[in-house]
Amino acid sequence: MNMTYYLVNGSPRKKSSTAKLLDSIAEGITDTDENAEVEIIDLYDLDYKGCKSCFHCKRIDGKFYGTCPIKDDLNELLPKLWDSDALVIASPIYFGNITGEARSFIERLVFPKLVYGGKSLLDSKPTAMVYTMNANKEISDEIYSKSIFESVDGVMKYAFGSVESLKVYDTYQFNDYSLYENYIFDEKDKRRVLEEEFPKDLEKAYKLGVKLVEGVI
Ligand SMILES: Cc1cc2nc3c(=O)[nH]c(=O)nc-3n(C[C@H](O)[C@H](O)[C@H](O)COP(=O)(O)O)c2cc1C
Repeated sequence: MNMTYYLVNGSPRKKSSTAKLLDSIAEGITDTDENAEVEIIDLYDLDYKGCKSCFHCKRIDGKFYGTCPIKDDLNELLPKLWDSDALVIASPIYFGNITGEARSFIERLVFPKLVYGGKSLLDSKPTAMVYTMNANKEISDEIYSKSIFESVDGVMKYAFGSVESLKVYDTYQFNDYSLYENYIFDEKDKRRVLEEEFPKDLEKAYKLGVKLVEGVI
């Protein structure tokens, strides 16, 4: 049977840094396993909300135990992700966290399989988080490491048994920096990072795709 991989884009932009990194991961996967089935999911195309705290997923002997009863665009998608062979979630950092859509999505993805004080209901599989941001590595390490990366990675690791995270710093945010008000970012510095560093990030993403297939995460 063909292996299935889901790559989830938590950015509203479909052609920007986050999406390009997912495309590289997809390429790494399909170059390693030509029969792999890879699906990229744009969260901003879907209509859904976060967990509503109904606890049907935890109700002993309940009809919805271990699943989510909410009927929206995640209803048919979540079981496919739970049953997939590997999963990647990518998100820009917005105000020091993953995007609201990515956060709500992770609540719906993980909470039904979370057992208070016990093991996750899911079988282990390779997973990865990709974070893109304006911040450079130094600022990101200082501000976001504990507050976001460790907590989101920790949730994924609890649910799926493994997680690798790729952080991509100092991304090129505007198509044309001269058009938008901004007093911190220097277009030349940003361009240098885009031309010299971002290709290396894409290469890391490609290798991450290879690792997902090889199951070495
Ligand atoms: C609403 C909003 C909030 C943002 N907040 C942060 C932030 O707190 N820290 C940061 O480093 N970058 C922040 N950014 C920049 C994005 O994380 C960065 O441009 C990212 O690479 C965007 O990914 P995309 O181009 O794939 O959409 C913010 C961008 C937006 C639109």
